[in-house]
Amino acid sequence: MRHRGIGIFDSGVGGLTVFKEIAAVLPGENLIYLGDTARVPYGTKSDVTVQRYALEAAEFLVDRGVKLLVVACNTASAVALPALRQRFQIPVVGVIEPGARKAVLSRNRRIGVVGTEATINSGRYPDAIKALLPDAQIFSTACPLFVPLAEEGWADHEIARLTACEYLKDIIAARVDTLVLGCTHYPLLRKTLKKVLGGEVMLVDSAEETAKSVQQIFVQQGLAHPAHGGQREFFVTDVPTRFERVGRAFLGSDLAHVQQVQIG
Ligand code: DGL
Repeated sequence: MRHRGIGIFDSGVGGLTVFKEIAAVLPGENLIYLGDTARVPYGTKSDVTVQRYALEAAEFLVDRGVKLLVVACNTASAVALPALRQRFQIPVVGVIEPGARKAVLSRNRRIGVVGTEATINSGRYPDAIKALLPDAQIFSTACPLFVPLAEEGWADHEIARLTACEYLKDIIAARVDTLVLGCTHYPLLRKTLKKVLGGEVMLVDSAEETAKSVQQIFVQQGLAHPAHGGQREFFVTDVPTRFERVGRAFLGSDLAHVQQVQIG
């Protein structure tokens, strides 16, 4: 069991930010990543469709014998986590609870949440934050244009700044001291968001906290692989070219040997 890999999936490249953090804290583990690039984005689709896609992506990884599954996509975590936990026997870790744990460090208890339409409509972030901090005030906004801006390499562009100004108007007016980046693409816009919100607002990126959760489960359940130098495998459901090119910015290094597969 301990020698088996960790399965990580996202609708596309965004989950590579989570992959990177897991690789940093658990360097000896074998990591298998699946980007469902043929069907991205998930964030504009209905819950039923996202649940079906998530189950099919997870099935692919579970069939490869992974010992733990990471749902490195906020949208899939928001709408499909219970279905995934019900279907599979292995531990399933999403990105929302880890993000909420960090968000409640807010000092003024006024917390902004940004994400895809599906994530914001699900209300999962406010639920998870209020479960830990009942008197928190949450201000949520969907920011669908952040995803193509990040993929286009325009995260630091003036267009991204203007887009952020428009989306974050109400959140700025609400004087939040914390903003949850509830989408795996948004950490790439960190610099632009800091510019728009001001340096004092804490930006919560679920990736680091999710990696910590995986580490904790490994300790609790004795799942850690003792050896070092784990393998990294990357699979996508569309041709790898765009994933390899765009993914570099998310992973912070080159992506080698990405394989195309069919799922579902
Ligand atoms: N990975 C998705 C998320 O974190 C963003 C991209 C999409 O809409 O599929 O919500």
